[in-house]
Amino acid sequence: MTKNPLRRWFGRKWFGRNESATELGARQSKKEENDANTGNHSSGGDTGPTIRALQGDIASQCVDVVVNAANERLGAGAGVAGAIINAAGPGLLRECADSYPDGCPTGEARVTGGHDLPAKWIVHTVGPQWGGGTNGEPELLADCYRNSLQAAAEIGARTVAFPAISTGIFHYPREDAARVAVSTIREFLAQSDHGINEVILVAYDSEQLPIYERLLETEID
Ligand code: APR
Repeated sequence: MTKNPLRRWFGRKWFGRNESATELGARQSKKEENDANTGNHSSGGDTGPTIRALQGDIASQCVDVVVNAANERLGAGAGVAGAIINAAGPGLLRECADSYPDGCPTGEARVTGGHDLPAKWIVHTVGPQWGGGTNGEPELLADCYRNSLQAAAEIGARTVAFPAISTGIFHYPREDAARVAVSTIREFLAQSDHGINEVILVAYDSEQLPIYERLLETEID
């Protein structure tokens, strides 16, 4: 795995601050269940990593990592954050507060357990609020995707599901945000040694899905 400045941070946070051996065992069992449900194999596939889009609820995805469109406090929220927090149960906000009392700056990512979600882990990232596009929004949004994938790779995830970060309450235009998402994910997956074999773009509604599908059919961004 390529060394980078994030490694130490995520290395320290792999399994949460107070995780017991029992909790770790439970997570491993959850991953085995997920692998059986999704057809994942820990040896990896013969083909390269794939990106696909589907319409659904991020909180119910059977993957190793779901990404949360969080706020900088890593506190309660609506939209994606509300769905994930409701489905994960109260232990999630407790873990966020205990492990990350300083929250998470925009563009960065933090890892917690999946708690009651089907996913093994949650990577929390904070997207930029749209302010017209000249305040570094595209770079910050790309940071969200890149840092979330890096965090997922560091914990050994093979499957990762993303919502359309920043396109709800933060008002980032959907098409522009999807371009940033697809190009950043492609760039990341083109590197070797990350171990991720599938990224799923989860569209919440029927307007978002064709945006992803069109971009995924296009070779060059
Ligand atoms: N599953 C998948 N996608 C969802 C779901 C869900 N359950 N709920 C909403 N979405 C979609 C929205 O339709 C939108 O396109 O996810 C996208 C992101 O929406 P938000 O959750 O509003 O995220 P964001 O725009 O990044 O705003 C983050 O919202 O909830 C607060 O605390 C959070 O302050 C933070 C802000």
